[in-house]
Amino acid sequence: MASPLGGIEMFNIKTAAVAAAALVASAGVAGAEKIEVTHWWTSGGEAAAVGVFADAVNASGHEWVDGAIAGGGNARPVILSRIAGGDPMGATQLNTGRDAEDLVQAGLMTDLTDLAEAEGWADFIRPSKLLDSCTYEGRIYCVPVNIHSFQWMWLNRGAYATAGVAVPTNWSEFEAAAPALRDAGITPLAVGGEAWQISGMSGVFQVALGGLDLYRAINVDKSPEAAASADMTKVFEAIAAARSMVDDGYVGRAWNDATAMVITGKAGAQIMGDWAQGEFGVAGQTAGDEYDCLPGLGVYPVLDTGGDAFYFPKPTKNADAMTAAQLEMASLLVSKQVQVDFNLAKGSLPIRGDIDLSAANDCMQKGLAILENPDNVLPSSEQAFTGDTQGQFEDLWVSFFNDPSISVEDAQARYVEIVASAD
Ligand code: BGC
Repeated sequence: MASPLGGIEMFNIKTAAVAAAALVASAGVAGAEKIEVTHWWTSGGEAAAVGVFADAVNASGHEWVDGAIAGGGNARPVILSRIAGGDPMGATQLNTGRDAEDLVQAGLMTDLTDLAEAEGWADFIRPSKLLDSCTYEGRIYCVPVNIHSFQWMWLNRGAYATAGVAVPTNWSEFEAAAPALRDAGITPLAVGGEAWQISGMSGVFQVALGGLDLYRAINVDKSPEAAASADMTKVFEAIAAARSMVDDGYVGRAWNDATAMVITGKAGAQIMGDWAQGEFGVAGQTAGDEYDCLPGLGVYPVLDTGGDAFYFPKPTKNADAMTAAQLEMASLLVSKQVQVDFNLAKGSLPIRGDIDLSAANDCMQKGLAILENPDNVLPSSEQAFTGDTQGQFEDLWVSFFNDPSISVEDAQARYVEIVASAD
């Protein structure tokens, strides 16, 4: 059978692979290094996915020393302060976006540019904005490993059958079905009360109820007028309405415990990023069978294309050998089979389109189809805002959700202030 690639492309790929191997070998003394890797992938689905990376690193002769820290909200500050404080790990997961921009600017991250050029990352990483998030003054300091989007709702089909109503296909149907679920003793909406979860949910309402223009005006243009608009008021009202759909135990609940409520039929649905899919996978459930997924709450089929990227802090000891090991690891993370295996377990979309995804489930196929149309691809909040601004949004959303005495008007006024001062 003829190769799908022309002869010239094949030649370029082989040449790039040889150049990359030479680069990795010349970067330092070959040897087995212990690479401490920090990340916040501790749920069942996440652990299965991170195991793919660990196996690949161990098979390369280096040793993956696992440094998992549960919960992104806890892990991120620990990771950033360790690097800033001169106690770097060998590699770390962070969100693709602005999480580490201060550390990159301070010169604390290993420069991956030569490897990226030798392997042609810019030719295959899609959407190209992912690599932009890793680039500072023309140099590349991280490697995106997946595309994750928060813009999803996950629904248990059986819960709706028990309640005697059809599985909702959009947000209005979801709201209309909520009383029937309540009557059947099922919590309509599974929520975890961590600040990032409530804030992420608000971003989903921003698209579904306010439209793509509202989302772009706030997340791209940082427009205080859009933040003050009547469309944005609808988002605050939806968050207030969501309060009445949750159970009493939501405060402090981890996201995967909320997903487990959907998996077991204790709840009808959860608004959560597509990492939730990993949990359904580990529970042996199949998209389109036990559960359904609604991108953009069934209103707008969009993805906000953030996700995860790996950074390699500059080593303070054994620098040549560790840097060589870091480059080898970066190369492995974007390699074809690792990308397929990791993303199938993680529920995320691969950062490369030139791999075989025939094993992707219905929901991943929906995601891949959405990705084809650039109009449906939005920046994630991690790409749009600094960590500081995101923290301010999170504080606002979680206080508003927890405290019904805060009026929509007051909460929106604070939101406008944050957007007006965001950089
Ligand atoms: C990460 C995902 C992770 C999720 C929940 C997100 O910030 O991008 O990879 O699964 O947090 O832990």
